[in-house]
Amino acid sequence: MRFLTARRRHPAARGLVLVFALLVMGALYSAMAPSTKSAADTGTSQQVAEGKALFTVSCASCHGLNGEGQVSGSIQGPPLVGVGAAAVEFQVATGRMPMAHPGPQAEVKPSQFTEDEVLAMAAYVATLGPGPAIPEPEQYDPAGLSEEEIARGGELFRTNCSACHNFEGAGGALPNGKYAPSLFDVSNLHLYTAMLTGPQQMPVFSNGVLTVEDKRAIIGYLNELHEQPNRGGLGLGGLGPVAEGLWAWVAGLGVLVLFAIWIAAKGVKAR
Ligand code: HEC
Ligand code: HEC
Repeated sequence: MRFLTARRRHPAARGLVLVFALLVMGALYSAMAPSTKSAADTGTSQQVAEGKALFTVSCASCHGLNGEGQVSGSIQGPPLVGVGAAAVEFQVATGRMPMAHPGPQAEVKPSQFTEDEVLAMAAYVATLGPGPAIPEPEQYDPAGLSEEEIARGGELFRTNCSACHNFEGAGGALPNGKYAPSLFDVSNLHLYTAMLTGPQQMPVFSNGVLTVEDKRAIIGYLNELHEQPNRGGLGLGGLGPVAEGLWAWVAGLGVLVLFAIWIAAKGVKAR
C-alpha cells in the first residue's frame, strides 16, 4: 500500500513541477534580459525627440527654441542649458512651468503634463548640457533612518532652511512679493529636487553642500514633523521592465500551467 502511494503521485504533482520550471525560467529570463535602466536614465532618442516636440510647443516661446533662453522682449525665460533633468521634473510636475503669466514667482498648480511627457521634456533638456539627473528613490526615501539621523536632519533644516521656510516648514514671505512656500504637502522627490536645483530665490544645495545623506535626513525630519508617512512623488524607478517581465512569465504562463494541470487531471481520470 505504502509502495503504491509512493509511486502513484498526486495528479497535481506534475503541475507543481511545471510551476517550478516556469519560476526557474522566469528567474533566468530576468537575469539575462538586457537591462534598459541606463537607457531610461539618459533618455532614449525617441523620448528625447518627443520631449523636444513638447518643448517647442509649450516652452520655447519663453526659453528659446533650443533652450538658449530669452532675456529680452516681453516674454522672458532663463537659459535651460545645464539645469538638468531634475530641474525640469521639479518645475513641470509641480505645475510651476509652463508659467501662466509673468509675475514675481511661478505659481504651483496642477501639472498639465503626464508623467511620461514630463520625463520626455526632462530627457530633452538633459541633452542640452550636463546637469543634475532625476534622483533615484533610495536617495530621497527616508525609510529606515534612525532617530539620531532624523534629529540631525532637524538641525540641518534649522541651519539651512528655516530662515526662509520657517521653523516648522510652514513657509514665509520674502521681499518683492516673493515667498518661500509651505513644505507640508510636498512629495519627498520634490523636497529633494528643490534642494538639488534651487528654484528661483532658493539657493542650490548641491551634493557638495548637503550630501545625499544630509538631504535624506532633512526629508526624514520634515516627514516626521508633518506626520505624513505616505508622501508621494513620482514612482520613478519602481517596478522596472525586468520585474514586469518576470510577472509576465509567472502570471501569464501560470494560466497555461493551470490549463495543463486540468488536462493532466482529466487524462488520469480517463485512464
Ligand atoms: C511664460 C514664459 C514661460 C514659459 C511658457 C515656460 N517658462 Fe520656464 N521659466 C520662466 C521663467 C520666467 C523662469 C524663471 C523664474 C522662476 O523660476 O520662477 C523659468 C524657469 C524655468 C526653470 C528653472 C530653471 C533653473 O535655473 O532652475 C525650468 C527648468 C523651466 N523654466 C522649464 C520650463 C519648461 C520645461 C517649460 C515648458 C513646459 C517652461 N519652462 C515654460 C518662463 C517660462
Ligand atoms: C533664501 C531663502 C530660502 C532658503 C534658505 C531655502 N529655500 Fe526652499 N524655497 C525658497 C523659495 C523662494 C522657493 C519657491 C521657489 C519657486 O517657487 O520657484 C522655495 C521652494 C522650496 C521647495 C518647493 C516647495 C513646493 O511647494 O514645491 C522646497 C521643497 C524647498 N524650498 C525646500 C527647502 C529646503 C529643504 C531648504 C533647506 C535645505 C530650503 N528650501 C532653503 C526659498 C528658500
